[in-house]
Amino acid sequence: MKKITIAIDGYSSTGKSTVAKQLAKHLGYIYVDSGAMYRAVTYFAMQHGCIDHNQFDKAALLSILDDVAISFKFNPALGYAEVYLNGENVEKAIRTLAVSEFVSQIAAVPEIRAQLVKIQKEMGGNKGVVMDGRDIGTVVFPNAELKLFMTASPEIRAERRYNELLQRGEDVSFEAVLRNVKDRDFIDSNRKDSPLIKASDAIEIDNTDMDLKEQYDVILNLVNQVLNKA
Ligand code: DC
Repeated sequence: MKKITIAIDGYSSTGKSTVAKQLAKHLGYIYVDSGAMYRAVTYFAMQHGCIDHNQFDKAALLSILDDVAISFKFNPALGYAEVYLNGENVEKAIRTLAVSEFVSQIAAVPEIRAQLVKIQKEMGGNKGVVMDGRDIGTVVFPNAELKLFMTASPEIRAERRYNELLQRGEDVSFEAVLRNVKDRDFIDSNRKDSPLIKASDAIEIDNTDMDLKEQYDVILNLVNQVLNKA
């Protein structure tokens, strides 16, 4: 069967990566979490003193950007690829609220976007890829056969993210998580370079009132319709 490209964009904590992983597993496709790449650069910036006391030193980060090597390695036990920064598995380290609080500022820097988008395009060069992010259907794969745009209310997204962080043992408040969700929505949607917008040919999925099974069924149905035509 012909392989396609599936682009999943949308607001933070809308469950993009959950459904992307499910689809990639079902179809035998590569799954790429592009947000993890922006998170890894943010983590690198924190480690190298480019973020201090709520200040982000863009020039300092750009001067060492060539030292950032991001790769993905498939973990058979998990069934998806984990992200590595200069050879270190940073899958856990990049999901903290501290990283979330800076990642949107890092992702607004055009030089950083250019570098990561180049890698993303290469990873999807042979199709058979499910990639989630903010600009996948608009910038990275404008010709993707299927584009989804995921939304849900900020409150339900914050609740999902809050529960995830608690499960990981992070000591956070619901208010801080909700503020972060809203702040990131604003920065991601209003930045100059590749803002989060729904591609004109994307299908919007509002999963505020859907459970994971309902969401997967709706999306799998859309995938099968496209595959049947491909
Ligand atoms: O999907 P996520 O929440 O892990 O993404 C983290 C941040 O990275 C998000 O706030 C915006 C940014 N991002 C982006 O600008 N472009 C992408 N393709 C993916 C993520």
